[in-house]
Formats: sequence, C-alpha cells, structure tokens
Amino acid sequence: MKPGSGPPWGITAFHSALDPAGTQAVHTASLWWLFFWVCTAVFVAVLFAIGLALIRGRSRNTPPDRKPDEASEHRRTLAVLGAIGATVAILFGLLIADFLVGRGIDSTGAPPDAQPLAIDLTGHQWWWEIRYRDPIPANLVRTANEIHLPVGRTVRLTLDSVDVIHSLWIPNLSGKRDLVPGHPVETWLHPDREGIFRGPCAEFCGLQHANMTLVVVVESQAAFDAWLANARRPAVEPTDALARQGRDLFLARTCVLCHAISGTPAFGAVGPDLTHFGGRAMFGAAFANTPDRLAEWIADPAQFKPGVLMPATPLDEDERRALAAYLESLK
Ligand code: CUA
Repeated sequence: MKPGSGPPWGITAFHSALDPAGTQAVHTASLWWLFFWVCTAVFVAVLFAIGLALIRGRSRNTPPDRKPDEASEHRRTLAVLGAIGATVAILFGLLIADFLVGRGIDSTGAPPDAQPLAIDLTGHQWWWEIRYRDPIPANLVRTANEIHLPVGRTVRLTLDSVDVIHSLWIPNLSGKRDLVPGHPVETWLHPDREGIFRGPCAEFCGLQHANMTLVVVVESQAAFDAWLANARRPAVEPTDALARQGRDLFLARTCVLCHAISGTPAFGAVGPDLTHFGGRAMFGAAFANTPDRLAEWIADPAQFKPGVLMPATPLDEDERRALAAYLESLK
C-alpha cells in the first residue's frame, strides 16, 4: 500500500466550529450566528435603501440644477443621522456581545468542578504528547495524539511545546490557543456532548504542520474511567508467535532509543509512548492505524511525512510485519 492511498484519516469525524459540543464552542458559535444575522439584516437594509434611491431618482426625473426644498432636505438629514445612530448602536451591541463571549471562554468562564481533570498537552514536530496528571506517580498516564475526555467535566489543560509554536484548536470544543515553547499556559475545556472530534494544529509549525492532528474522544464517565484504568496498566504480553517476535525486535533494535512501552525495558522519551498504541485510531498524528500502513511507516516514515524525525528502520518485510503485529497488539 502506498502512503496516501485509502482514507487519509483514522476517524471520519470532521471538525466544525458551527457544531458545538463544548461550553466555549457554544459561546463562539452563538457569537458567529449573532454576527451573521445582524450583518445579513444590515446588508439587506442597505440593498433596499439603494434600490429605493435608484427607483425614486428615475421616476422623479427632476432637473439636476434644481435645489431641494427645505422639508425634503430635513428628511434626508434625519435619515442620515438615523442611519449613523443605528450603525453606532449595532457596532456597540456587537462589541458588548464579543466582550461577554470573551469573558465566557476565558479562565473565569470554566464551569466549577470539584475535581477537574488535569492534563498536560505538549506540542512536538509533529505530534501531540498527552499526560494525565495524578497525585500518585504510578497513575500518571502518558500517551500521544488521542485524548480521551469524560463528558460534562471541566478539563484543565496545561499547554507547552518542546520546539516551535503550535496551536491547539478543537473547533467543536473551543477556540485556538498557542503552545509556546518555554511558556506553559493554562486553559480549559468542558465537553458537553459525546463524540469523536478532530483537533488540527492551527499554527504553521514546519513541513508537516498539516499532518498534526489530535483525535479527541469525548465519552461517558464510565467509558472514560475504563479507558483510564486500562491506560494505567503496563503493556500486555504478546500471546502469538509473530507478536512475540515483534516485541523481541522492538527491544533489540533502535526503537527503544526514542519510544517507551511501560512494562518493558523501553524508556525512550523522544517519541510517542507506545504502551497502548494498538488502541489508537491513528498513528503519526495523521494516518489510519492499520498493520499494513504501520509496517510501511516503519520501513520509511519520511515516505509518509517528509521531514519527520523518525528514521527508517532497516528491517526485512517479515520483521516489519512482526513489529507491526506486536504494536497493534498493545491495546
Ligand atoms: Cu504543530 Cu502546526
């Protein structure tokens, strides 16, 4: 299979700011609709006024040098003053609406939550590192590119970057927020509808900026708890021979220099944590996670993502298949 053939995304969900599924997105979508309808009304009113002026000007047929009488001059002055007053009132109203929405989506607008979920989100060229904080170090979960959130809970995000400026944008949940290296910022999310949403990186960050997608899975509290409990477990031991061969290859080759798989001696922290790799919809922050595709990726990641830091791994085809089988078994 050639890179790029077949569906490019592991998920079919399409992102839309006009399909809000979170508190902030509801605010911004309502602001958008307010602007849309007010501007539409103004546009129609202006067209109507121009049409009226054209029709009147033609039907009256007055000589151009005739001076208007005092009464019609007064009417025109009133009409112009009225239009100026309406313009100022409309712009001022939109400014207030904009201000109120700004208040609603900043840090003070977060719905109170006794135990907000705390997550660190770090941008890398070109993938997302996700860490679920926990007071007990053993419960800390490190994963990549796919973030799971419980519906109806406030999520406190700490955004940071290790290289260049990236931007978090999950249009269905919230607006954009930059991830600036060395300047961690706090932000929040409050998903109020279950679903799978896309979060494309929204700040040009190099060659593969377009291939830096965050998958956001908003699920029930019970489903989230089950996911988190599984994410905390070390990787499962492979049962079939092919996957076992893949694990031995993983630990013997260069993979361990960059990747970690908890429960094994692999502790690399440069690339994404692969402990539950097989459970993710996508890999490489862009591609559907299938064994065939993964084997191709391992052979030459730059074929998929020119500029990617991960080097090609010299393995024969059987070895690549074994490695892919092992990684896909890590649910
Ligand atoms: Cu990261 Cu654009």
